[in-house]
Amino acid sequence: MLPDLPPLLAIESSCDDTAAAVWADGRLAASVVASQRVHEGWGGVVPELASRAHQRLIVPTVQTALDEAGLAMGDLGAIAVTYGPGLAGSLLVGLSAAKGLALGLGVPLIGVNHLEGHVYSVFVEEPHPAFPFLCLTVSGGHTLLTLVREGFVHEELGRTRDDAAGEAYDKVARLLGLGYPGGPPVDKRAADGDASFLSLASPRITGQKARSLADFSFSGIKTAVRYALDDVPEPERDVWLETHRGDVCASFQRAVVDALVSALSDAVRQTGVRDVAIVGGVSANRGLRARAAETAEAEGWRLHVPALSYSVDNAAMIAVTAAFKWAAGETSPLSLGAEPSLAL
Ligand SMILES: Nc1ncnc2c1ncn2[C@@H]1O[C@H](COP(=O)(O)OP(=O)(O)OP(=O)(O)O)[C@@H](O)[C@H]1O
Ligand SMILES: [Mg+2]
Repeated sequence: MLPDLPPLLAIESSCDDTAAAVWADGRLAASVVASQRVHEGWGGVVPELASRAHQRLIVPTVQTALDEAGLAMGDLGAIAVTYGPGLAGSLLVGLSAAKGLALGLGVPLIGVNHLEGHVYSVFVEEPHPAFPFLCLTVSGGHTLLTLVREGFVHEELGRTRDDAAGEAYDKVARLLGLGYPGGPPVDKRAADGDASFLSLASPRITGQKARSLADFSFSGIKTAVRYALDDVPEPERDVWLETHRGDVCASFQRAVVDALVSALSDAVRQTGVRDVAIVGGVSANRGLRARAAETAEAEGWRLHVPALSYSVDNAAMIAVTAAFKWAAGETSPLSLGAEPSLAL
């Protein structure tokens, strides 16, 4: 699908992962992610600590990616970098490194929207979806359903009104004392919990109140979990949590997965488009992957979910997106700035 291009280096530093990848000979040649440990114990990402950690990690991460690809700096034909959305201080570290490399090597700079990166993460490995395809982006900051047409045209079919799905996982995990990021431990505990333990209202808004086909609100479900905890008298709470943590996780996960997969089913029915992608950190969720696969089988969709390492933040998705842009002749000026609130 992509023409042969000279090797391209991609840098991703929008949040708390310092990542670099190399795309060469029409495929991924290396992908390295240095996850920052400095945020553990803070219950979330601390922006100032993130940018300082990026500064420390960026050069060794780029060098490791080049070593893995068996290439030298001088072999590179372009430098790609995430310029938004994300934390301003974090984005600036990646952008400065990328601009320095592009200027020093005399090669083009290619700015990539992190959200486009998530969408195109399903092109890192085969089989690729066919255009147009439906794409559910579920991450720490976004919950968005789009119809993706060839040439980076995204038609929005719906989004969350408030919290993102990943944010809801993180907040529920915090309530349950499961640490940050919350998605993986909640997913793990949900596997052997009783999903009928709590009856939680769906985070999907349907019927007359719905503004779109995929209208979500995740702030209520987190609050409902908090109320369920508040109902347990304080002295009994620790024991109650020990007994029911998995049940709360399973109930929460079932409500989220039902909401997301039902929106996808309705979108397939309404648009007639059968290639469906689920991308972003929450697409790593085992419950969501399993339910989407069952529904795809039953309803005849072709489901595309990236490998786990390309669901959460990574530079491989930035590299493949940049390869698409470069092939279309799109490069960026060296004046490219960080855009913390960039939309799709
Ligand atoms: N197995 C899982 N189940 C559910 N959620 C998960 C799982 N693994 C990771 N997550 C969630 O994914 C989110 C991180 O995803 P990602 O790295 O794509 O987000 P981000 O880059 O912070 O946000 P955005 O991409 O919207 O800017 C976190 O909220 C995390 O809890
Ligand atoms: Mg992300």
